[in-house]
Amino acid sequence: MAQTQAQEYPEITITLNVNGKDYTVNVKPYERLIDVLRYKLGFLSVKEGCGRGECGSCAVIMDGKLVPSCLVLAVQARGKKIITLEGIAPPGKLHAIQKALLDTYAMQCGFCFPGVIMAAYYLLSKNRNPSEDEIRYALSGNLCRCGSYLRFIKAVKLAAEYIRKGQIYFDLKK
Ligand code: FES
Ligand code: FES
Repeated sequence: MAQTQAQEYPEITITLNVNGKDYTVNVKPYERLIDVLRYKLGFLSVKEGCGRGECGSCAVIMDGKLVPSCLVLAVQARGKKIITLEGIAPPGKLHAIQKALLDTYAMQCGFCFPGVIMAAYYLLSKNRNPSEDEIRYALSGNLCRCGSYLRFIKAVKLAAEYIRKGQIYFDLKK
């Protein structure tokens, strides 16, 4: 059977630390981090919108930096510490940002939410009292097809308030 040139590249074994746990996985040299996280490791919060670094839906934190995982090769993430949405709160809990998004009724289709939450998480991990301009700037890389932008600003302000009061995690309502 004929093979494409790309299929002939040998796989490379890499280890990624995702949400505090090590995963060893075989990847092609051209495989993107987004595909490895979603399809090989099952972190389905990592969503593909544009696939070219413009929408922010695929954002993860890698070694302390917010990155679009569609623009990172899996091999570039070798040995790095990655945080996805699944890793921001313990099982069964909501992070303050998730709670604030619910409280402000920001949710529409929700497709952009993982990226928006990761961008807000990144901002609030550096600055617990951001100004509106700082919030707007921090979320400027996130496209929301449903146009929830103003509610996102309100939600991030509320999340910052929760965090300043020490309310980081909330129980999921049954
Ligand atoms: S899918 Fe990565 S930035 Fe849009
Ligand atoms: S809530 Fe639908 S894309 Fe943002």
